[in-house]
Amino acid sequence: MQIIRRLSDLPAALVPWRGAGQRIALVPTMGALHAGHLALIDAAKAEADWVVASIFVNPLQFGPTEDLDRYPRQEAEDAELLQGRGCDLLWLPTADQLYPPGFATTVSVSGVSERWDGAARPGHFAGVATVVAKLFTAVRPDLAFFGEKDFQQLAVIRRMEADLGLGINVRGVATVRDADGLALSSRNAYLTPDERSRALALPQSLEHAREAILGGEPVEAALDDAKRNLTEAGFGRIDYFALVDAATLEPLDSPAGEMRLIAAAFMGATRLIDNIRVISA
Ligand code: PAJ
Repeated sequence: MQIIRRLSDLPAALVPWRGAGQRIALVPTMGALHAGHLALIDAAKAEADWVVASIFVNPLQFGPTEDLDRYPRQEAEDAELLQGRGCDLLWLPTADQLYPPGFATTVSVSGVSERWDGAARPGHFAGVATVVAKLFTAVRPDLAFFGEKDFQQLAVIRRMEADLGLGINVRGVATVRDADGLALSSRNAYLTPDERSRALALPQSLEHAREAILGGEPVEAALDDAKRNLTEAGFGRIDYFALVDAATLEPLDSPAGEMRLIAAAFMGATRLIDNIRVISA
């Protein structure tokens, strides 16, 4: 696996892979890699000839009171994991190269990025869309892989790709969970053992709400129950717990079509998000 730090070294590394019929996949990450990230690498390898991963803790997508400074950084372990999974190139951009002095251009996606995490974390999705647009421009991949764990992020990137006509196939990969059901996240490392066990209420409340809604319970009552469960389990602020249309992310007050239950809440100082698919019979 090649490791590249300088943006200017990237084109030369990619030239040999741009031959006829060869497909390059990009897997953007912020590092502290776990089995969820590695599932993206596996999915990329299954479809592409060459897999490029990037690790960049993007300051633009963190709010002023968020965890940019303490976000876990473990470059050597990450490189080893990627190499073991058959990743071909690891790009480790630096902030000064991605955001040169005077940087003044932002990609902002309206509509799908406005509610939920967009409302709870002002500027977050503009930060994500901007950095992903930059990564796409630098690598020019045929395919790019993102996790359904960040369901709204995936929708924002699909919208941006379509609107800018980038010609990149954006693929979503199912959420990887620990054996007990908690979605893997780099932020789980912040949880104390006690918080880690309480955090299980998040996937459990999502499952429970799905059963209730599919069983005919009114949506609002099912969502209220779920929020109560989270509070009883020790969650603090609940940013949202909602049933949404899977394509538009608009809230639904009764079941219809392809749906998703999405949630974000604080366990101690750690903000956790999760979501599950809801299919009506
Ligand atoms: P990060 O949180 O490192 O996640 C990188 C990718 O891994 C994202 O597409 C995310 O959805 C996916 N992922 C995380 N946990 C997962 C899990 N348990 N199962 C499946 N996929 C999972 O998301 C970001 O970084 C950034 O916003 C980024 C897109 C890199 C832009 O900075």
